Order: sequence, then C-alpha cells, then structure tokens
Amino acid sequence: MTIGSVHKREVKVFKNIYEMTFFVIERWIEISESAINKKGRFEAGLSGGRTPTSLYQGLSEFRKLPWERTHIFLVDERFVPYESSENNYHMINQTLLRHINIPEENIHSIPTQEKTLPASAEKYERDLISHFKLSQNEFPRFDLILLGMGEDGHTASIFPDTPAVKERTRLVTAVAETVRFRNDRITVTMPVINNAENVIFMVSGYNKANAVKRVIGEEDSLLPASMVNPKKGKLYFLVDEEAAAYL
Ligand code: 6PG
Repeated sequence: MTIGSVHKREVKVFKNIYEMTFFVIERWIEISESAINKKGRFEAGLSGGRTPTSLYQGLSEFRKLPWERTHIFLVDERFVPYESSENNYHMINQTLLRHINIPEENIHSIPTQEKTLPASAEKYERDLISHFKLSQNEFPRFDLILLGMGEDGHTASIFPDTPAVKERTRLVTAVAETVRFRNDRITVTMPVINNAENVIFMVSGYNKANAVKRVIGEEDSLLPASMVNPKKGKLYFLVDEEAAAYL
C-alpha cells in the first residue's frame, strides 16, 4: 500500500519484512539492469544493522545477477575490527558477499585498521573519489543507497545533534562515540546520500513507530532520516505494519 509521495518520496507499508524484502529485491534487479545498460556497472551503498539481513540473504540466492559488474560500498561502519560482530562489512560478507561471485576489487569496505578514526574516514573518501573519478567538490552518484533508521531517527551513522548532520563538503566523516550509540563510526555524508539516483529506506518493527511518525507523519526536519531527499533521485520509504502503527 502506498500512502503518499511527498517530494519524490514514495511511502509503502508492507505486512512484514519478508514482503518488504521481496519488493526491494525487485527494485535491486530493475535498478542494477538499468545502471549496467547505461554505464556498464551498478554501484550500491549498503547499510548495516539487523533490518537488511533478510535482503542480503535473499540477494545471495540470486547467483545469476550481474555481480561481476556490481560494486558494493558501505554506507557506514563501526570502527571495530572486521572480526567483531558489530562490524557491518562482517555481517554483509557473511549474509551476501561470500555467497556470490563478485570480484574482490568490486567490494569497497570501509577500512577500520587505520591508526585513527579520521585516517579511516579519509582513506574511504579517497576510495570514493578514485572509483567515481570525482573532481573537486563533486559527490558520487550511487545508483542505489540502502538505508535503515534508528529509533532516534538516525540513518547511516548520522545521528541527531551531531556534527555529521551539518557536514556538506566532505564525502565521508568520522563520528565519535557518545552515550547515545556504541562505537566510533565512519559514515558517508548527507550530500552523498542525497546525490543518489535511488534511495531505499527499510524500516521494521514497533520500536521504530515513533520515529516513523516523526519523519513521515510530521516531517520533523530535526531528524537525519527526514533530511534524506535525493534532489535528482527517487526515494522509497518502506515500513512494515508495526513501524507504521502511528501513521
Ligand atoms: C548501522 C546502520 C544504521 C542502521 C540503523 C537501524 O551501522 O547500524 O547503518 O544506520 O541502519 O541503526 O538498525 P537496525 O536495522 O538494526 O534497526
């Protein structure tokens, strides 16, 4: 069920995460085919967390997708070793990457072995600039960015009332841990997200209902998830019935 499309945002409510996942897999196939037809490759930025795991497991069954022409980037990362269960790349590798025939050089994880958090952010930013062949002040244009949303309305690792919310020039920024969230983080910035051709939010569970009400129902501009509005792109905001409880 679609309940409105503010800006170019299409809000869809699904019975459960599995129906939502099926919809996202259909969009992934469509977007990747279009990107590969247009420019010979498909570039996607993936989020961590629990919500997208069913999607990644589902995608891992599609061995015939053009993985050799697909580039996978991370939207954000916790500054912990790969071996940590908190590491997003670890989760995405376990659920998707190790099961598909994707070339190693097409996997762009965020380095967490640098000596400092800023050094990791700078290294990932250089990877983006190099891969997308960006000039000064240019942002990468991902074909698809997949986002989740926290109960506080954060997305990627852009948390309310943190400097990352206001970052408009860097592609990637370091996020120091606070009492509100675990682990130092590295995240792409809002201008990168809003330069994408397609952005898909996957939000599931009653614990997100209040944030969904504030972002979708009230357009509460203080929440980072409300700031996602790709200027030349399509935004899908997908929720299950529990997360849509207050809409
Ligand atoms: C991360 C994600 C983060 C996540 C939300 C929702 O690194 O954790 O990028 O933005 O999408 O916190 O997480 P859940 O899907 O686990 O609810």
